Amino acid sequence: MPSFANPFAGNVSRKITKAELIQAIRLDIAGELEAIFLYDAHVLATDDIVAKTVLSDIRDEEKAHIGELMTLLRYLDPAEAEHFASGEGEVKEMMAKLGIEEPSLESVMGKSYVSGLTVGSLIKDKEGK
Ligand SMILES: [Fe+2]
Repeated sequence: MPSFANPFAGNVSRKITKAELIQAIRLDIAGELEAIFLYDAHVLATDDIVAKTVLSDIRDEEKAHIGELMTLLRYLDPAEAEHFASGEGEVKEMMAKLGIEEPSLESVMGKSYVSGLTVGSLIKDKEGK
């Protein structure tokens, strides 16, 4: 939620340490998750197709921001990245025991969608052309 009551809340009087930066990135990720939750709630709460389209696009951009921040976090803290990888491995192991394959982008989006993807098509898709 916005907290603009104090216009100086975002100002810092010094450069932050690497440990503080890592904590800040974690907080940024939490903010992105909250934004996704809110945009998605607004998408679900309206039948206005333009609002749904715009809000869905913004929501998905927030998801991309999480990818960027997670990559940055892995760069800043490789030890933490090992924990992420460990957790991913545990879930994949559980799924394998259940006989469930990890869904591919193709299975989610459709083969023709994936096989037709190029950088140009993604840009056109993003621009709604
Ligand atoms: Fe964002």
